[in-house]
Amino acid sequence: MIKISICFGSACHLRGAYNVLNAFRTLIDKYQVPSEIDIEGDFCQGKCTEGVVIKVNDEIITNVAKEKVYDIFMEKVLGGKQH
Ligand code: FES
Repeated sequence: MIKISICFGSACHLRGAYNVLNAFRTLIDKYQVPSEIDIEGDFCQGKCTEGVVIKVNDEIITNVAKEKVYDIFMEKVLGGKQH
């Protein structure tokens, strides 16, 4: 199980956290891996100027925009699944 948390604090929200969430959801559907991924909202991570902030398992990734989600998904989510 891979856990993705997306910060929904106000700064990250303004920077497009919802779009990031939707981009992940679209990929999760497309690659048909919903049961292997737990995706949830998170509180402010204290890195508001570096938002959107997400965590994949316990790794914090900053400056995430929806355009970056595909690469993160491929590397950390689908890539991580094989280990
Ligand atoms: S609002 Fe996302 S890190 Fe603070």
